[in-house]
Amino acid sequence: GFVVKIDFEPLGRRVEVNDSETILDAAQRAGLTVAAICGGRGTCGTCKIRLVSGELTPPTSVETQKLPSSALVSGFRLACQSRPAGDIRVEVPPESLTALQRILVEGIDSKFEFDPSIRFVSLDIEPPDNGDFEADDLRILKALNDLGFSSGITISPPIFPVLSSQLRSLEWKIKLAVTTTEPGSVIACLPVNAHGLGIACDMGSTKLAMYLVDLETGGILARTGRMNPQISYGEDVVNRIAYCNTHQDGRQILQHRLIETLNEMIGDLCGKTGSRPEWIVDCVMVGNTAMHHFFAGFPVRQLGEAPFIPAVSQATYLSAGNLHLNVAPGAEVYLPPNIAGFVGSDHVAMLLAANSWIGEKTIVSMDIGTNTEISLLSGGNMYSCSCASGPAFEGAHIEAGMRAAAGAIERVQIRNSQIIWQTIENTRPVGICGSGILDTVAELKLAGFLDTRGIFVRDHPMSNRLKEKNRMVLIPAESTGIGKDIEITRRDINQIQLAKAAIQAGVKILLKKAGCQPQDIDDFFIAGAFGTYLDVDHSIEIGLLPDIPLERYHQMGNAAGVGACQLLFSKKMRKTAGFIANNSHYVELTIDPDFTGDFLDAMFLHRGY
Ligand code: FES
Repeated sequence: GFVVKIDFEPLGRRVEVNDSETILDAAQRAGLTVAAICGGRGTCGTCKIRLVSGELTPPTSVETQKLPSSALVSGFRLACQSRPAGDIRVEVPPESLTALQRILVEGIDSKFEFDPSIRFVSLDIEPPDNGDFEADDLRILKALNDLGFSSGITISPPIFPVLSSQLRSLEWKIKLAVTTTEPGSVIACLPVNAHGLGIACDMGSTKLAMYLVDLETGGILARTGRMNPQISYGEDVVNRIAYCNTHQDGRQILQHRLIETLNEMIGDLCGKTGSRPEWIVDCVMVGNTAMHHFFAGFPVRQLGEAPFIPAVSQATYLSAGNLHLNVAPGAEVYLPPNIAGFVGSDHVAMLLAANSWIGEKTIVSMDIGTNTEISLLSGGNMYSCSCASGPAFEGAHIEAGMRAAAGAIERVQIRNSQIIWQTIENTRPVGICGSGILDTVAELKLAGFLDTRGIFVRDHPMSNRLKEKNRMVLIPAESTGIGKDIEITRRDINQIQLAKAAIQAGVKILLKKAGCQPQDIDDFFIAGAFGTYLDVDHSIEIGLLPDIPLERYHQMGNAAGVGACQLLFSKKMRKTAGFIANNSHYVELTIDPDFTGDFLDAMFLHRGY
């Protein structure tokens, strides 16, 4: 044999291997944890990869059986069955990575111009002396005018309390952050060797994700995540709004707790990168409409009652200082526009990241969560809706459910009535997360052990797993890490049916509004933690997703966070966000005459829509 180089995308790993090794071996050697629940025997199909360039050995009969011919044509192969036939480049799609590596996949693509809202100017200012009594502010403005800045340029008042001492401690050699809108305003004074920074944050009801970016180079420097501290005031936003309605200072308390945690996250990011919070001069916060209101301190009562009216939907700039956000006191916080009460700026950010708001294609963009936001672009028109899909896909309200963490069963397959599974970090199973329960329902159905109503079938080879009529053992106690059986109940299955029915009905109604069929969908983007983990084919099998070719699906990671970063990097993107919010036609499902019928139909476990 001879030695070949293999590049793995999108994580950017390279290994040199012998050409007799499989791509799966090579990936493992490169430190990639590719899913391989059958252990490389070619029976599970979880190790899918895509050839980007170069050549592989021809597809084996196992591969031609396992992969649809359209997938083979697009370069999809099984890593355990294929070997390199020279130097090659392969892509490992997110669904083939185990959960912990999947979060690394998110990237920013560079389809937008780098044109941030803040620019940086280094100045060496003449200090005052006995013949020169000019005030500090005028001294700075004069230096800026000398550099050609317009005479209308101002200094933002929030920085006056710190400016004079900064000038002196920096010995008059400074870097100013100046807004790029004419005539411009100075919003921060930094040391010349500091980098001007920005933060982009996706405020989910459950999780907060924050990115620290370099506004001078356009790079993402670090990211961090925390649980949303507001969970102690209500698991979901509806309960938190109720808390605000019944507690006098409710709104202030929720806002305060949120900002306290955001400040801790800023501290983490600065610690990781050796930066200082005062160097952060621009902030973008995205979230669902309720999170947006909680952050800004806007009233939420009307948002919690039909017809669910936002207090503010337009893009808003707030002062970081007034919010007590621990960044440069003169910094502004940009909140992109919301589409509706349940379709917030996080969805706008996702549409930006997927670039799925313009063009002639028919595109569905979906962020699956407790509320699932869906947009459809068709014939140049945009429609959006939100469905109450519930937390089942996040592992909640499922008896053995848990979040995607170590020990969670994340993949399940059934072969000849045998259940095989894989857990996050390959530890003994302690529970099951959203992607695992989805797999379970799909595989039980495929095995014929569940009927289309979601009821366990009697007299089936798997019936010996039933403890009671409506309760089966998924994994017996001796194999689990909790000393008892991991079970799946009829109720759990029903939770999944409810969730997928809500989503299917939402997509169908949007398609109807646009006069399209599922087959017309050219691209289908799925974002969010669960959306990135789910098995698309299994999702089609139970009717969570329509039956269109797999290559039209794109699983995106935290698209809202990526979109928020783009909004930091580009003023044009902020204009686009306004365009999206203004032009999206919001569809309220609960008053749509077809909704109830579509929802009830979608409760059955049928493949596709
Ligand atoms: Fe390749 Fe299972 S590991 S098919």
